[in-house]
Amino acid sequence: MTIAVVNTKGGASKSTVAFQVAAASFLAKKQEVHLIEFDDENKDSETFSNSKIKSSQVEIGDGTDVDEVLKDTILVPKDKNIVIDVGGNKTTTIILEGLKKTRLYRKIDLFIIPMSGGYQDLKNAEKTYEMIKGFDVPVIFALSRVRNPKRLQFQYGDFFRAFPKKKYFILTDSDVIDLSRTQKKSVYEIAFDTNTKGAFEKALDEAFDTDDNDKIAQFSTLLQIFDESEEYVNDILTPAFEALEQKNKKDK
Ligand SMILES: Nc1ncnc2c1ncn2[C@@H]1O[C@H](COP(=O)(O)OP(=O)(O)OP(=O)(O)O)[C@@H](O)[C@H]1O
Ligand SMILES: [Mg+2]
Repeated sequence: MTIAVVNTKGGASKSTVAFQVAAASFLAKKQEVHLIEFDDENKDSETFSNSKIKSSQVEIGDGTDVDEVLKDTILVPKDKNIVIDVGGNKTTTIILEGLKKTRLYRKIDLFIIPMSGGYQDLKNAEKTYEMIKGFDVPVIFALSRVRNPKRLQFQYGDFFRAFPKKKYFILTDSDVIDLSRTQKKSVYEIAFDTNTKGAFEKALDEAFDTDDNDKIAQFSTLLQIFDESEEYVNDILTPAFEALEQKNKKDK
């Protein structure tokens, strides 16, 4: 299965959605997955070196032979799971035009268009949707950095007006996303990682023993965020994984 995450806007939560939701959904199914980031500059992509999700980065620029890159990355057997994190701006255009020209969009099972709120993200989501709707591949939106799920209509009112009937899932804005970066593994993996929790608890014990208040505060906070990662899996990630599954089955 191949999932592509795309929005022309920088900072729209593409990499977060690609890693924490799309790629992690395969871990939840006990399957292997390869995450590929297409980008226009060889910036150091975040390395999640402790994660079971294998990731790599492909630089896309003016001189890139896009046919070749697409063949190498997505022309793989159906039983392989691939998640493509398509970089914003020019990279989006290069990749989407390449997919169209080569017809290789037919190898993509699902597009996710993420947004992190705000007018520009929505405008770019609309633009991105226009670019991919002709592919006739299922599309689902990801509303990220949600402040309060009960007030989703307030924060994301423009989205619901622009796309009244489109499927979406939400990611609440949470410290667990930042903890995931420091632990170099996905939130889904952290939630089940008793070793990490044990290490935090041990460090907290030591801090109490030595009366080190700075360390007490630090590890008390880390343990609270760790606990939140379990809630995040139950309340946010599991429903998001289910949304991907349904979207993929129903619309094709
Ligand atoms: N639900 C969330 N909770 C907390 N932080 C978040 C969440 N979603 C995104 N972020 C943060 O927002 C920032 C931008 O997200 P991300 O890197 O995923 O966007 P992007 O679209 O991949 O950006 P770029 O265009 O630069 O590749 C990151 O620092 C990320 O950690
Ligand atoms: Mg990114």
